[in-house]
Amino acid sequence: MKEQLEQIKVSAIERIEQVDSLSALEELRVYYLGKKGELTAVLRNMKDLSAEERPVIGQLANIVREEIEKRLVLKKGLLENLEQNQKLHEETIDITMPGKVLSYGHMHPLQKTLEEIQNIFLGMGYEIIDGREVETSYYNFDALNLGEEHPARDEQDTFYITNNIVLRTATSPVQVHTMETQGLPIRMIAPGRVYRSDEVDATHSPVFHQIEGLVIDKNITFGDLKGVLAEFAKALFGDKVQVKFRPHYFPFTEPSAEADVSCVMCGGKGCNVCKGTGWIEVLGCGMVHPKVLEMAGIDPNEYSGFAFGMGLERLTMLKYNINDLRLFYENDIRFLSQF
Ligand code: DAH
Repeated sequence: MKEQLEQIKVSAIERIEQVDSLSALEELRVYYLGKKGELTAVLRNMKDLSAEERPVIGQLANIVREEIEKRLVLKKGLLENLEQNQKLHEETIDITMPGKVLSYGHMHPLQKTLEEIQNIFLGMGYEIIDGREVETSYYNFDALNLGEEHPARDEQDTFYITNNIVLRTATSPVQVHTMETQGLPIRMIAPGRVYRSDEVDATHSPVFHQIEGLVIDKNITFGDLKGVLAEFAKALFGDKVQVKFRPHYFPFTEPSAEADVSCVMCGGKGCNVCKGTGWIEVLGCGMVHPKVLEMAGIDPNEYSGFAFGMGLERLTMLKYNINDLRLFYENDIRFLSQF
C-alpha cells in the first residue's frame, strides 16, 4: 500500500507538472482527490490493514494528499497568471494606429442653391412658405386663371390622381393659399417639388423643383418687381450680371415677362451655353392678374403685387455649369462630392 501511495504521488506530481490548462488541472484534481479518485480508493482499503500498519499508512496518505493539494494550488496560480497574461496580450490596443476616418456627407447641390436663394430673400424680408404637392385642380389651374381650355390641363402634361386632384404642375398654387390665409401684406417665397408628365432627358424630369415668389401690398409696381429680381440675380450670380425683361404671357399675371440674365459662362459674348445669344432665360414673372387677386378675396383696386417662378435645377445647372439635369438624381458620389 505504501508503494501504491508513493506511486500515486509520483504520477500525480508528474501529471500536474505537465498540465497546461485550468480545466485539465481540475480534471486531475477530481481524478486523484475526488470521491471516486485514486487516493480515496486506497484509503477505502485501510480497513484490511493491521492495527500497527493503519496509523502509519494513514499518516502517509495524509502527507500524499497534502503534497498533491499543494502542487494543485501552485499550478492553479501559475495557470491563472498565464491565462491573464495571454488575455492582456491579445487585448493590447495599438495607440499608434490611425483612427477610423468618418466620412461626412454634405449638402446636395440643389439644396445648396436653394439655401442660397432662401437666404437672399430672407435678407430682403421675405417669408418662406411650404405648399402642398397634391392639389385640387381649382388651386392648380382655375384660381390661377388657367381656364378649362388651357393646354397645361391636358392629361398629357399633368398627373391626375382623380378628376380634380392633381400633382401640382407648378409652385404657383401656393400663391393662392397664401393670399387666402396669410393676411396682407405678403412677401414670400415658396420652394418645392412640382410634377409634369415629361420624358426624362438632359433638361427635363417628371419631378423637379421650383421656387415661387409673391409680393402683395399697396402701391406695388413693375418697378418693384424689376428691382427685386435684379438684386436677386446679382446676389446669386455675381455683381456683374445683367438682367433684362422680355414681354411674355402667363394667365395669372398681367403684364407678364420672362427675365434673362447675361450668360454666366461667357459674360454675354455668346457661347454654346447661351446658344450664341449672350442671354439665358431664368424665370417667369409679372404683376398678379386682378382676376387672381379677386378670386383669392383681395381687392385689386386697393392692392397690387408681383409674382415670379423659377426652376431650381436650371439655376443650379447655370451656377455650376452642369450640362445634364439627370446628374442631380442619380446620386453618383463622384458627381455629388464636387460640391
Ligand atoms: N408657373 C410658371 C411655370 O411653371 C412660372 C411662373 C411664371 C410663376 C410667372 C410665376 C409667374 O409666379 O409670375 O412655368
